[in-house]
Amino acid sequence: MPKISEEVIKEVLQKTDIVDIISEKVSLSKKGKSYFGLCPFHNEKTPSFSVEPERKIYTCFSCGEKGNAITFKQKTENLTFVEAVEDLAIKANIDLDFGTYKRENPHKKYFEINRDAENLYKLYLSSTKQGIIAKQYLVDRGIKDDVINAFNIGLSPTEFDVLYKTLTEKGILVSDLHDLGLVKQSKTKSFYDLFRERIIFPILDERGNTVGFSGRSYLQTDKDSPKYINSPQTVVFTKSRVVYNLSNAINEIKKNNRVVLFEGYMDVIAAYRANIKESVASMGTSLTTEQVKIMKKYTSNVTICYDGDSAGIEATTRAIKLFERENMQVKIVLLPDNLDPDDYLSKYSAEKLNSFINEKWMDKIEFSYIQNNMGIDHAKMIDIERFKKTIFDLIKNTSNTIIERYIKRLATDISVSVESVRQDFNQYTRKNIHVAGDRFKRAIPIDSKYLFAERRLLCYFLSDIKYVLKFNAEFGEIFYINSMTRDIKHLIEDTHYKNLEDNKNSDISEDELVNILNEEQLHFYNTKVKNKMIMLFDKEYEDLIGTIQDYLNFLIQTELEEKIRAAETATEKIELAKYRDTNFKEAKHGQR
Ligand code: UTP
Ligand code: MN
Repeated sequence: MPKISEEVIKEVLQKTDIVDIISEKVSLSKKGKSYFGLCPFHNEKTPSFSVEPERKIYTCFSCGEKGNAITFKQKTENLTFVEAVEDLAIKANIDLDFGTYKRENPHKKYFEINRDAENLYKLYLSSTKQGIIAKQYLVDRGIKDDVINAFNIGLSPTEFDVLYKTLTEKGILVSDLHDLGLVKQSKTKSFYDLFRERIIFPILDERGNTVGFSGRSYLQTDKDSPKYINSPQTVVFTKSRVVYNLSNAINEIKKNNRVVLFEGYMDVIAAYRANIKESVASMGTSLTTEQVKIMKKYTSNVTICYDGDSAGIEATTRAIKLFERENMQVKIVLLPDNLDPDDYLSKYSAEKLNSFINEKWMDKIEFSYIQNNMGIDHAKMIDIERFKKTIFDLIKNTSNTIIERYIKRLATDISVSVESVRQDFNQYTRKNIHVAGDRFKRAIPIDSKYLFAERRLLCYFLSDIKYVLKFNAEFGEIFYINSMTRDIKHLIEDTHYKNLEDNKNSDISEDELVNILNEEQLHFYNTKVKNKMIMLFDKEYEDLIGTIQDYLNFLIQTELEEKIRAAETATEKIELAKYRDTNFKEAKHGQR
């Protein structure tokens, strides 16, 4: 096999941003000069995978995997060295003639066998007696030849070993068929086909290689077996990394700058029939971060169109979070009457499905509003309060128009006056002081005892999750005086404590902190926190919480004083002063 010259490899690596390449598959965050994330080569819950852009290498401190952009691509995409270099060269706009290099993918053999199986299934659908019955089923569901061809739909034979016999007679090794999950071995050691008497949907990877299959039962007599059977996990097929129909949809996704995500194969096909061809599905399993990252390579806009039933709504909520974590823009389509897209098409029409998806989408606030409103018991005060707060949180950082719209809508839905909802909203958002210290920095100097108390609290947060939970319960996860303390607390919550299994020791090791914190935070920890970690008592913790509470009172009171000063009428001033005197009699400007 011809070799690629050293210079070419050097140039490719030189012009490749390794952080860019790895970010396609791993969420990285910057810590100093390096980037950290969860290692893609082994299962872990705390990040020990580092990428060094200057040296252009990656290393996992936990499993020992290391290499450069080329090896990373090879390993994560099952590519040969030449293929990986070629991909990187294209991405880096290096114009090289790779035609002379022989591409040899170690999985090529498997792709070819799968393609053989696919062809057999297609032939069986188009040219057998059983195929006529299966085709009738498809036609009844509105699927005609053009769609059958576009999705390469086939049919697996009724007899138990047609595929096994046909392909082994062709010289294909039974061990390979077995590796691909196409045949299984019975107790008596004889081989039989996995897919029998099912409509077959080939599953392709991003590059269009057939990596697996899904077979749907279609006969009335077959009521007891599962609706779909899928290929098992194989060397070429990992469910969590495949996005159904992506290879066919890539051009349309790019052209329309959006991807439309469905739950099922039949829904993707329905969308295709409705002329929405940038359509994919997440393979029955719930959506994975890997799938999100794969889609993100082609667009940052996604429209989620899951089933309109409660399971679909729940899955949508989960999917929104995954997409937002990867900074993708999300739109949601919620079909009426528990229908899935395919049902909707059958019940109405392709045109109606098209216009529903393109015109009746909603944004995340709207979706959350509907979803939360569905879950509440309007007779229960606590439900209503929670609903209000959820919506307030969703709208508080948006425009006044949006705020006004939802305040009005809330008022209608919970049957109270707009004025009262507006008051609640104002009150609620005023308490939502993210970093009180930052906000009042110039006007009022912060007494150092408050800053000290919060810093001291950090020792407790780092020592045991129970202190974090208590603090959050008290201050609703939102009240902080100093942003450094807040960031460190959030970081350990998002990494270490998030991954903590029940009843596990919650100690955070120094090593882990080095990974989690950036340089500035680490410096803060080393100089101001670390040496004070020894003597911790619940009693002191309670006192510290008291001190922070004092400061919060002080802030509210200060704001109240400002309001009294700014009030336009005497009556208003008196009202506000009354309120102050009843609520803050004891606390004299935060002094205890
Ligand atoms: P659905 O039950 O919604 O199926 O499952 P569907 O796509 O609407 O298919 P039809 O219209 O009933 O024919 C959604 C997806 O979940 C996976 C498949 O990927 C399916 O497309 N699934 C479902 C399975 O893998 N196995 C099953 O038994 C059922
Ligand atoms: Mn369906």
